[in-house]
Amino acid sequence: MCRVCGGPVRQFFDFGRQPLSDAFVDPDRVDEEYFYRLAVGTCESCGMAQLLDEVDRDRMFHDAYPYHSSGSVHMRRHFEQTAGRLSGEHLRGPDPFVVEIGCNDGVMLRALAKEGLRHLGVEPSGGVAELARLQGVRVRTEFFEEATAARIVAADGPADLVYSANTICHIPYLDSVFRGLDTLLAPDGAFVFEDPYLGDILERTAFDQIYDEHFYFFTVRSVQAAAARFGFEVVDVERLPVHGGELRYTLKRVGRQTPSRAVAELAAEEERRGLDTPEVLDRFAAGVERVRTELTELLRKLRADGKRIVGYGATAKSATVTNFCGIGPDSIDWVCDVTPAKHGKLMPGSHIPVRPTEALTEPYPDYALLFAWNHAEEITAKERLFRESGGRWIVYVPEVRVI
Ligand code: SAM
Ligand code: TMP
Ligand code: ZN
Repeated sequence: MCRVCGGPVRQFFDFGRQPLSDAFVDPDRVDEEYFYRLAVGTCESCGMAQLLDEVDRDRMFHDAYPYHSSGSVHMRRHFEQTAGRLSGEHLRGPDPFVVEIGCNDGVMLRALAKEGLRHLGVEPSGGVAELARLQGVRVRTEFFEEATAARIVAADGPADLVYSANTICHIPYLDSVFRGLDTLLAPDGAFVFEDPYLGDILERTAFDQIYDEHFYFFTVRSVQAAAARFGFEVVDVERLPVHGGELRYTLKRVGRQTPSRAVAELAAEEERRGLDTPEVLDRFAAGVERVRTELTELLRKLRADGKRIVGYGATAKSATVTNFCGIGPDSIDWVCDVTPAKHGKLMPGSHIPVRPTEALTEPYPDYALLFAWNHAEEITAKERLFRESGGRWIVYVPEVRVI
């Protein structure tokens, strides 16, 4: 049953039993992993793509949540630019107030805090919330939902802007979020959020965007349908090149702002492409099977030829790839990553060891499987010497290739 409208959901892919994507395993505690069924479908009534099973939020977002948004230089720049845009477009009145849902380590809010703007981050994961505080960001360590919104309004008054990046798609209880927005936003207030775009996921067969934390896969049309249930509408939409293709949506209460042409144009394009139709979704499913076959075959062949292969980027996305494709320490020696909290741990489910990125040079391997493909530009530039000394990257989005 659809988590937004209660309509029937048609499954289009089942990845089977999967571990939590960000639950890096202590080598002494491999028996304690938690698994759930990862399957995805689309609502036949409102078109919202969503997971069929929901993981309890406290299992995923807690004090030890290991994802640090500031780990990427490109993303830091993206959020600095975003802060400038938001303050120019939505925070020009007297003493404006901005709330960010899922501020993580403060990657965006710290720029607004530095300007002296009234702000608040809402971030349930205690470890990253503390890092944001160290950056001068005011944070509530809570999940955003209806009750949180009421507490914020009581303490700080209404918000002119609620912003959220890569977080709204993590929240199955969208009804509570929208009721909270209605409580929290000033009459003309805006809700701006950005998340991976189903249109790009389908086009690039980026099946690794599907994992426990990514509960929804939005389109303009499905967000329009959800917003309408709560008295909001999409007034603007913008494509973003980050994280493999995202959309930034601007919502206001119905009738407050004439929707831009971009909204109608992208909605029409989605209808033309049939993003919620069984034909398109089944074609994606066939593409996923093809990538699995080609990737596992390539790794098998390289190993048989005696090649050394490592992984680059212990991403949440890679949990889906390794576990669905059956990739383990027999084909990949280890995965390197910049995040200190992941070092010395094992990848969820596959139990491939995680090491610091410095490990790459000692000596360079023959191949590196780029799990962090969404940061390809940044990583291949940083690791130019790997390629120059004869190393090759393996990518699998939009197709399996050696570059
Ligand atoms: N905004 C950052 C970015 O774009 O890099 C962080 C994205 S991170 C993938 C998702 C964040 O959402 C996590 O820090 C998590 O703790 C937080 N989160 C999950 N559920 C939430 C909720 N209900 N309210 C606020 N934050 C939430
Ligand atoms: P993400 O795709 O969810 O943003 O996760 C990216 C992961 O890759 C994260 O664990 C940090 C890691 N990473 C590196 O190890 N080196 C890098 O240069 C970048 C950009 C990310
Ligand atoms: Zn629905």
